[in-house]
Order: sequence, then C-alpha cells, then structure tokens
Amino acid sequence: MEKSSQSGAEILPTDTSELFEAAVRRATDLLRAGQVVALPTETVYGLAANALDPQAVARVFEVKGRPANNPIIAHVATLEMARRCASHWPGLADKLAQAFWPGPLTLVVPRAALIPDILTAGGPTVGIRWPSHPFIQAVIQRCGFPLAAPSANLSNRVSPTNAGHVLKQLGRKIPLIVDGGQAQVGIESTVLDVSVQPPRVLRPGMIHDEALLTVTGELEVGSAAKGGTLKSPGMLLKHYAPRARLVLARWQHDGDLESQARQLGTSLRKIHIIAHTHIPSTQEFASVNVIPHDPEAFARAIYAQLHECDDAGAEVVMVESLPDEARWKAVADRLNRAAST
Ligand code: TXA
Ligand code: MG
Repeated sequence: MEKSSQSGAEILPTDTSELFEAAVRRATDLLRAGQVVALPTETVYGLAANALDPQAVARVFEVKGRPANNPIIAHVATLEMARRCASHWPGLADKLAQAFWPGPLTLVVPRAALIPDILTAGGPTVGIRWPSHPFIQAVIQRCGFPLAAPSANLSNRVSPTNAGHVLKQLGRKIPLIVDGGQAQVGIESTVLDVSVQPPRVLRPGMIHDEALLTVTGELEVGSAAKGGTLKSPGMLLKHYAPRARLVLARWQHDGDLESQARQLGTSLRKIHIIAHTHIPSTQEFASVNVIPHDPEAFARAIYAQLHECDDAGAEVVMVESLPDEARWKAVADRLNRAAST
C-alpha cells in the first residue's frame, strides 16, 4: 500500500528492520507532538495518542465520533508503566499480568491522578493493556508514556484488522497509518474489571472465562451500568456492526439456506454468505466465504470478511450460527451485537 494524496494519511510499512525503525521514529515524533496515529496491535488496529495529554485524547474522540461517556484503554509496555497508571494495583492484577501480558487482556483498575478525566470518561477506573504486537511495544517504549488507543474505526463500526481497513474509514482524518500486517487475534481484547470483587468480565475476548478462572478462582460475567458512566459501552447491544444487515442462521443444505434467504426480502444476489461447517455450493448468492470451524481462525478472519462484504455493497450478510461453547463465546458475542437491530 502506498501513500495516496486523496486519502491524506501516510502509510508506512514495517517489513524490514530498517522500515520498522523508521516507522517507529515517525510515529513517536507525531505522538510526542500531540497527534493521533493508527498503529497495529495483535487484536485490532488502534487509534493512538498520548494517554496523559487531554488534548490529544480529545482528538481521538473527535476522529472516531466517539461518545464522551465511553472510556479509552491506556496501552503500556512494562508492568511498571501499568502500575503508574493505577492508584492501587490489586494483587490479582499482578497474577493476571503474569499469566496473560503481553496479550489481549485489558485490566480495569482504580486510576492514578496522572490519568486525565477524559480518558476514563470521568470515572474512577482506568483500563490498561500491555499489547504483544512488537510495533506498538516499540513505540510505547520510545515515547515513555502510555498510549490511549481505541480501535481505529468510526464509532460503532467494525474494527480494523489491517491497514487498508483503517485507511477506508479514517484515512482523511489522520496523518499516519502504520502497516503491521493482518491482526493475529482479530477481535478486541477481553476487558476484565479487577477494581471489584469478584472480578467482572465487561467484554468477552479470546482470553476466555475458563482461562481467567484458572487465575482468579471466581468471576462475574456481564456488565452493569453504574451512575452516569457506562461500565463498558462495548457491552451496548448494537455495536461492531457492518453497514449491511447481519443475520445469523442455521442451515442443513443449499435448499434450506436458499429458502431462509428468500424470506429476508432481498435479492439473493445482494446476500453474502459466511459459512464454517455447511458450505453452500449454490451460485445464487453474491458470494460464499468460508472460515475454518475453529474459534481462533474465526476471530482472525471475521472482521475482514465483514469489511469485504460492505465493500462489495452487500445488503445482507448471512453468517452460519456458531456453537454455544465457551471457546466461541467472544466471536458469538460480536456477531450477536452486529445482528441486533
Ligand atoms: O483489543 C483492544 O482492546 C483494542 C486494541 C486497540 O487495544 N482496543 C479497543 O478499544 O477495543 P475500544 O475503545 O474500541 O474498546 C475498549 C472497551 C470499551 O468497551 C470501553 O467501554 C471499555 O473497553 N473500557 C475502557 N476503559 C474502561 C473502564 N475504565 N471501565 C470500564 N470499561 C472500560
Ligand atoms: Mg472499538
């Protein structure tokens, strides 16, 4: 991908050590100057700014069109930096960090005074994550401050899992997109509130309940709105949605799928199928996309598939229902939200 004058954003590749280093330098310079840049992480691409600079964080809200009551995660690259963001670092947070950091887990802890109000939406806690992607780690270390980074999409749209997805939605609004390849996890981190007891899962992710339980021993699942600040707006029902209408369906064979599709009131030529087990062989649909029947593979691929369907002008995306099992919970959660009207 190359810089396009139409899009505004400069796109920097990272596939040699020289390019990687040049991109780290450029991103760090912009972040130090209070700017907002898109960076790769292992979950989804993030829209990053200096987490300690309220004006830079305000710009993140503006670029995304994000409601002010939705707090943003601070990304760190050492345990010491994580502790600096917290007024109190629970013992359990240490154990969880030991088990899962760096990685796709966000810990909600009581916030330190140096964390600006705007980052936490005025709330008493801050979400902290130590991502495993080497690029964002290098930038955080070079900057020396934590990075505020929500997913690099417009509010309520599908998160980006490659640089092209970011370019499409935000290319005209930001100066830099760093291309760190396809996101390897593919959906957003698990958000776990450890400021309460027992700890509470605010957003399911690929670090699932069973894995967390081996460390925490107990767990509460689901979010609760407290006061004015939403406990985790990622838990709002309608979220992570493509432009097309998303329908979850179960079918046995082509005829079964076609008859269900005909009831949706849209030409089959405008319907895209995403399947993992019963792969249709009919030519009636706009496209048939196959993702392996495996939760990790599914998480990695699903957002890119939804972006593709939107790009192709899909009116409806029919996704084959997922198993009702713990390992599938996070992807099922995202699809259920996208399907809710
Ligand atoms: O994987 C991820 O978490 C990605 C990458 C870029 O790190 N980031 C991400 O950020 O998904 P965002 O802003 O799209 O989602 C963050 C979620 C939101 O649902 C937000 O409400 C919740 O985390 N959150 C952040 N801080 C919180 C806090 N102090 N208390 C409760 N929920 C919080
Ligand atoms: Mg998001």
